[in-house]
Amino acid sequence: MNETLKVLESRRSCRKFDPSRAVSEEDIQAIVKAGTYAPSGMGKQSPIIIAVSNKEVRDQLSKINAQAMGTSIDPFYGAPVVLVVLANADIPTYIYDGALVMGNLMNAAESLGLASIWIHRAREEFEADFGKNILADLGIEGNYVGIGNCAIGYAASDLPKAAPRKEDYVYYLK
Ligand SMILES: Cc1cc2nc3c(=O)[nH]c(=O)nc-3n(C[C@H](O)[C@H](O)[C@H](O)COP(=O)(O)O)c2cc1C
Repeated sequence: MNETLKVLESRRSCRKFDPSRAVSEEDIQAIVKAGTYAPSGMGKQSPIIIAVSNKEVRDQLSKINAQAMGTSIDPFYGAPVVLVVLANADIPTYIYDGALVMGNLMNAAESLGLASIWIHRAREEFEADFGKNILADLGIEGNYVGIGNCAIGYAASDLPKAAPRKEDYVYYLK
């Protein structure tokens, strides 16, 4: 199996990150770059990525996310970096576009030996005043809606094996 196929198969969601291990700036840059090369409907590049390594911002997003979920746990499972993908809802393919960026981010992280997980409720984070202020402070205008949070870091322990793939996943018409 080639390296790309190995990465696509071996990536698993991490739910316990090692809080003592930071992610290098170089790795963050490489991962977000991979995200920007995801395909997008009509090549319109509707998504944007906000790479959060600032602990206060990360913790506040975690708090809003937890509130939206109705829990008090850290929804980012201790990950030190959260790559938030938003996409411009004025573009009809924005959800697909954003989901593909999320996939690239998670697979790029895996290729670099980093763990990751898609955490939902980015929409709620950026509907809150805190998220709106982040966009305003960055000078981002437009109808941007949160698609997902890609939490990244180093796994604190081995990740569980993939669930078996369901038998009726693929149909061939030959
Ligand atoms: C759209 C989407 C939203 C997800 N949201 C969460 C989440 O909020 N919390 C969480 O623990 N996992 C979340 N996950 C991770 C899935 O639970 C995980 O991908 C699934 O269990 C399969 O495991 P694997 O990623 O290891 O293959 C999400 C995944 C997707 C694709």
